[in-house]
Amino acid sequence: MSSSIKSAGVITCKAAVAWGPEQPLVLEEVEVDPPKALEIRVKVACTSLCRSDLTQWQSQTQPDLFPRIFGHEASGIVESVGEGVTEFKEGDHVLTVFIGECQSCKHCTSGKSNMCQKLGLERRGVMHSDQKTRFRVNGRPIYHYCAVSSFSEYTVVHSGCAVKISPSVRMDRACLLSCGVAAGIGAAWNVADISKGSTVVIFGLGTVGLSVAQAAKSRGASRIIGVDINPEKYEKGKAFGVTEYINPDECKEPIQQVIKQITDGGADYSFECVGDTSIVSTALQSCCDGWGMTVTLGVPKTNPVVSTHYAFLLMGRTLKGSLYGGWKPKSELPSLVDKYMKGEIQLDELVTHDITFANINEAFSLMREGKCLRCVIHMPK
Ligand SMILES: NC(=O)c1ccc[n+]([C@@H]2O[C@H](COP(=O)([O-])OP(=O)(O)OC[C@H]3O[C@@H](n4cnc5c(N)ncnc54)[C@H](O)[C@@H]3O)[C@@H](O)[C@H]2O)c1
Ligand SMILES: [Zn+2]
Ligand SMILES: [Zn+2]
Repeated sequence: MSSSIKSAGVITCKAAVAWGPEQPLVLEEVEVDPPKALEIRVKVACTSLCRSDLTQWQSQTQPDLFPRIFGHEASGIVESVGEGVTEFKEGDHVLTVFIGECQSCKHCTSGKSNMCQKLGLERRGVMHSDQKTRFRVNGRPIYHYCAVSSFSEYTVVHSGCAVKISPSVRMDRACLLSCGVAAGIGAAWNVADISKGSTVVIFGLGTVGLSVAQAAKSRGASRIIGVDINPEKYEKGKAFGVTEYINPDECKEPIQQVIKQITDGGADYSFECVGDTSIVSTALQSCCDGWGMTVTLGVPKTNPVVSTHYAFLLMGRTLKGSLYGGWKPKSELPSLVDKYMKGEIQLDELVTHDITFANINEAFSLMREGKCLRCVIHMPK
C-alpha cells in the first residue's frame, strides 16, 4: 500500500447540502470517508452548475434521497487513492464524469455504447461499489448525486468515473467537459454524425444546445436554426454558429409548421436540449421524412413519456437519445480536452459567471431565472 492510502482518514470539510427539494443549499461541516477499493478522493477545484442538478434538486420524485450533495461537472486534484488504484496518484488533476467506463463490461467492449454496466448513471444516491454513501453530517448519511457530488470541498468517486488531465489545462473551464459541453458536441458528432451542408434545428440554446451548435458548425452545417423562448440566448448563439432564431412564443402557427415551411419539408437533424418530452415530439415533427433524425438530450422534470404519431417513424425519421454525447469518458474525453487546448472547441465563452463556493445558491437562482449559461463555482484553495 502506498503512503497516501495509509494516511487517508476521514476528512472534515464544507459541503453544500440540500436538505430537501428546492430548499436553499446550506454549507455544512461534513465528514468525507477515505476512498474504498478502486475509488479516489478528490479535492474539488471548480464545479459548474448543469441544468440536470437544478432539475433533480427541484424534483419531488425522490424525497427519500435527501439530504443530498449535488454537483457533477467538476475538476479537481486527487487527494488520496483507495486500494487497487494504479491509474491515479495524489496530486493528479482530474475531471469527474457521471457515467464511468469500466473498460471490461459488454457495453464498454462493444464499440457501440457508453452505457457502462458497472459504472453507469447512478440514480440511487449512493456509490456504485457498495450502495453506501461516503458523506455524513452529524453522523447522518448524506446522499450522492450521480456518484460525483462535487458541491463539496472533497468528494469520493470511483476511479472509473475520473479522467486525468494535464496540470496545464484550466480547471475552471475544463470542468464544462465533465457534462454539458461534451454531451452537446457528442450528440452532434457521435450520435447524429451531422454531414456538411445540412440544416439543423436546436430546441433550447443553453450550454447543451449551444454545444450542439458549435459542433454542427464545425461539421459545415449550412443552417443552424435555434429555437428558444428566451430571446437573449440568440445573441450568444450567433458566436456558436446559430444562423437563425425562432421564438415559439411569437409564432402564429405551431413551431414545427414554421420549421417545415422554411426548410422545404423539414430539417435534416433536430435536437431536444430543453428537458421537456413534449418538445421531443415537436422536434421529430420538425425534421424531414426519409432521413430526418431527432436526437434528444434533455432530462425532463415531469412526464417521462414521449408520445408521437407512429407515421413519422414509418416515413423514415429516426429518434435517438444519448447520455454524455455517446462519449466513452476514459477513452475519448482526453481528445476533447486536446481540442479545447488547440482552440477547436469553445468552453470559455459559455461561462457567464464565476462564483465563490459561499455564493453557490446564486448559481441556482441565475439558472432558474434563465440569466446564465454556465456558472463556475470556485472552491476555496
Ligand atoms: N443527455 C445528457 O447527457 C445531458 C447532459 C447535460 C444536460 N442535459 C440536459 O439537457 C438540457 C439542457 O441543459 P442546459 O444545461 O443547457 O440547460 P439550460 O437551462 O442552460 O438551457 C435550456 C434552454 O432551454 C430553453 N427553453 C426552456 N423552455 C423552452 C421551450 N419550451 N422551448 C424552447 N426553449 C426552451 C431555455 O430558455 C434555455 O435557454 C437539460 O434538460 C439537462 O438536464 C443532458
Ligand atoms: Zn463498463
Ligand atoms: Zn450535467
